[in-house]
Order: sequence, then structure tokens, then C-alpha cells
Amino acid sequence: MDLIKLGVNIDHAATLRQARGVDYPNLVEIARLAEKAGAHGITIHLREDRRHIQDADVYALRKTLTTRMNLEMANNPDVVRIALDVCPNEICLVPERRQELTTEGGLDAAGQRDLLRPTIEALTKNGSEVSLFIAPDRKQLEAAADLGAPYVELHTGAYANATGDELKREIEALHDAAAYGQTLGLRVNAGHGLTMTNVAPLLDIPNLDTLNIGHSIIAHALFVGIEQSVREMLAAIQR
Ligand code: PXP
Repeated sequence: MDLIKLGVNIDHAATLRQARGVDYPNLVEIARLAEKAGAHGITIHLREDRRHIQDADVYALRKTLTTRMNLEMANNPDVVRIALDVCPNEICLVPERRQELTTEGGLDAAGQRDLLRPTIEALTKNGSEVSLFIAPDRKQLEAAADLGAPYVELHTGAYANATGDELKREIEALHDAAAYGQTLGLRVNAGHGLTMTNVAPLLDIPNLDTLNIGHSIIAHALFVGIEQSVREMLAAIQR
């Protein structure tokens, strides 16, 4: 079985920068160090409100990344235009609500097929691989396959927040969704709310491709530095 890959989400290095409106920490350098530490890709979310990642970051990182760029974005015409211009290796379509602290739910791929189809087709034709950020739900997986997305990213936020019996149910749902997605020909990633402490029960999901992890890596980097933080997460997911 291939080792699970790590996509390092650096949005919250940008959060720190935007909190003061300054030009540090330098995101290109953060990404370079994450790659040096073994990250398989760098994930950034260009939100409609530009609360952390800015348009200039997307362009600068596209020039400098030596691994894969995974751009998270809503199906919004302005951001789609930038994505078509930048042509990231991967694009993860996510739902966005202005007031949310972070991406709270999965994309309703089943309910929004007509809106998503032309965007997925345009991005794919332009050379990016599209992933849909969905809840671990068979209906959403079927919609993702029908829409021709090669990847899904299973939303692990509910799992990360669950305890007791609910936690067991969430783990089962993620295992079931990954297996079902693979029978539909989808490659399966997962992410959101994952930490070195809570990631273990997801590691025996067969053929899980990539875990996209951000907040906990950036937070731990305050203590150990970004390279060490990435190395520790890699060791945790590839043990
Ligand atoms: N995957 C997706 C699709 C996300 O929207 C996010 C948050 O931006 C993450 C992964 C990373 O989540 P976290 O920062 O909680 O690790």
C-alpha cells in the first residue's frame, strides 16, 4: 500500500500576516520549508473575502512551488477566472459562507450539479485536476463521479469534533465513503480539523491518497518551527 501523502495548508501563516497587514511571514518561504521537510503538496484557500490568502500569493506560489499546488476555492466566477489563469495542479471546490470561521460543511455536489458541471469541465480542460470537498455521504460521492471529478476530499470536520458513539459513527462513515468512492473510480483525499492526536483512526482507510492539514501544523510550528512541525505530522500519518 502506498504511503499517505501530506498536503500542507498554509492559510494560517497568511492569517498571521493579514492580522497586521504586513508582509511577513513570507508565504513563499513557509511553503519552501514545508516542501523541504517532505510535504507532498501545498494547499491554499483563496476565499471570496480574501481573509488570508491573497491573489498575489497564488501567483507567487505558482512560480516557486516544487511540489503540487492544491487551490481550494468556491465556485465563484472571479476566483474561477484566477484559477484558469494560474492553472494549479489540483483544485478543490469547497462551499463558502462569508461569516464562517472555516469551511464548515461539505459541498452539495448532488444538489448543485448544474452549477458545478461547467466549472469542473472548464478547470479540467485547462489542465487542473478537480477535487470536490464533500461529506462522507454516498449520494455526494455518486454526484462527484457523475460530474467527472477524479478526486474527492472527505470532510473530516464532523469526525474531528465528535466524541463517544458519534465518533465511532464518523469513523465508520469515513471508511465506508472512502471504500465506496474507490468503487466509483474516485481517488480519495481527506482533511479538516486533523491533528497529530486525532489522525490515527483514519490511517487504515485503504488507499487514502492525501491528507490536507493546516491549522494544527501551523500552530505547532510556533513551538518547533515549520520544518519540524511538517516532519512530525508526516511521521504521524506515515507510521
Ligand atoms: N481541506 C479543506 C478542503 C479545507 O477547506 C481546509 C481548511 O481550509 C483543510 C483541508 C485544512 O483544515 P485544517 O486547517 O483544519 O487542517
